[in-house]
Amino acid sequence: MVIDGLHILHGVDFDVASAGVTALLGRNGAGKTTTVKAVMGLVPRTGSIRLSGAEISSLSTHLVVRHGIGYAPEDRGIFAGLTVAENLRLAEREVRGGAEAGEPNYALVHELFPELKARAGQLAGTLSGGQQQMVAIGRTLLNRNRLIIADEPTKGLAPKIVSEVAEVLARAAEAVPVLLVEQNLALVRRLAGTCAVLADGRTAHRGDTAELLADEEAARRLLGVGSRHPLAGGPRSSSTSSAASPAATPVVTTEVRP
Ligand SMILES: Nc1ncnc2c1ncn2[C@@H]1O[C@H](COP(=O)(O)OP(=O)(O)OP(=O)(O)O)[C@@H](O)[C@H]1O
Ligand SMILES: [Mg+2]
Repeated sequence: MVIDGLHILHGVDFDVASAGVTALLGRNGAGKTTTVKAVMGLVPRTGSIRLSGAEISSLSTHLVVRHGIGYAPEDRGIFAGLTVAENLRLAEREVRGGAEAGEPNYALVHELFPELKARAGQLAGTLSGGQQQMVAIGRTLLNRNRLIIADEPTKGLAPKIVSEVAEVLARAAEAVPVLLVEQNLALVRRLAGTCAVLADGRTAHRGDTAELLADEEAARRLLGVGSRHPLAGGPRSSSTSSAASPAATPVVTTEVRP
């Protein structure tokens, strides 16, 4: 992948399970955001990206979105000068029948985020970071997507809000598979059954999340932490885990090449 003449990604291969949460991990600057932007068609890419079997690697962003990927970007992409309701409204996809048939699913969004209903008329720029994240994730649930991609949804949030966002991601993943870019390993351990780890723009590891985090040497080498790190410890909670065993048919397969 080339950005401004620089090759950022060199060989990124991973699958997203067709249910639950798959984590995309790696140290700062490893290429996680660039990878999800490549999936969305927001940076030039070559190679193969398949969504439920359909090749999407040559599609522009609006067509990728129409194929059913909801994207909550790293910077949240909220329109600060618009209300919560207007931000959601802008995310509604045109409904023209076929695969996209169906009204925007406000019932689901309001069930998961009652606060968004209560704050419908509030300017999004005046929301807290956690509430803005709810808008960003809520937008991805409005349309009947095949996949949700969330890029560091808990970045910069207070611990209590992180738990709330985690709960929401777990519930969202019961409806739609989620590709989660995340640095909070406690959260990753709780939510994600499988993971891919990037290092220097390549896939350095793929496999079971709990196994990776239990392997002190591998966790240190790949993520910079050991298993005794407080963020990595503790068993996955079965009540909140939406992790699925690696699915037979991945929802997304990528082989991004320079
Ligand atoms: N527009 C750009 N021009 C030049 N280099 C870039 C550009 N965007 C990203 N990079 C570089 O590509 C590499 C990967 O960046 P990327 O943002 O994908 O990493 P990341 O894993 O998401 O990091 P973080 O954890 O900090 O979000 C970094 O070295 C970064 O400096
Ligand atoms: Mg990033």
